[in-house]
Amino acid sequence: MKNIDKNSLANAYRLFESDDINKIEIGTTKGLQEIHRYLFEGLYDVAGKIRTVNISKGGFRFATALYLKEILMTIEKMPETNFEEIVAKYVEMNIAHPFLEGNGRSMRIWLDMILKKQLMKVVNWQFVDKTLYLQSMERSPINDLELRTLLMGNLTDDVDNREIIFKGIDQSYYYEGYEKDNE
Ligand SMILES: Nc1ncnc2c1ncn2[C@@H]1O[C@H](COP(=O)(O)OP(=O)(O)O)[C@@H](O)[C@H]1O
Ligand SMILES: [Mg+2]
Repeated sequence: MKNIDKNSLANAYRLFESDDINKIEIGTTKGLQEIHRYLFEGLYDVAGKIRTVNISKGGFRFATALYLKEILMTIEKMPETNFEEIVAKYVEMNIAHPFLEGNGRSMRIWLDMILKKQLMKVVNWQFVDKTLYLQSMERSPINDLELRTLLMGNLTDDVDNREIIFKGIDQSYYYEGYEKDNE
């Protein structure tokens, strides 16, 4: 694992260890930017900053940079009163893809904070298969049923369990191709 990714992983651990996570606004664009800044401060000069260029992945073009701020204002107002609404909001935020890099890792933490606040649950990511997850994310702009089913089957109400939190962070970095090497 490259130093930049090791440092970001350490930042993610520190976000929870330090309890700084509980100072971050939940369910808003500002809160997501704060998480992103925390993970990538000093590593990317765009840490916490909304992108100004268009990006796409696997043939899917994310929200156009020109209207991104307006789109984000609409998304943060989306309701989060039940699991379906929360996943729908997460899917829209992924379609917005506000950052150049680090969307996946920051957004999974953002999602967990909404689930914890509204439902007293979090995703137990260590049991969410990488391939199934990434496939369901690719599918989600068209239909979020696969994603909902996958996440619903892996919710836990053990929301403050450190092992679940830290294994979840490891899994989140693993989804994006970053694996801890044994040194
Ligand atoms: N084709 C796609 N359509 C929609 N979402 C996608 C697609 N490919 C990847 N994603 C989502 O984007 C995330 C990766 O975004 P990225 O900005 O690279 O984050 P990170 O740097 O944390 O990996 C994946 O975790 C997935 O949720
Ligand atoms: Mg990436």
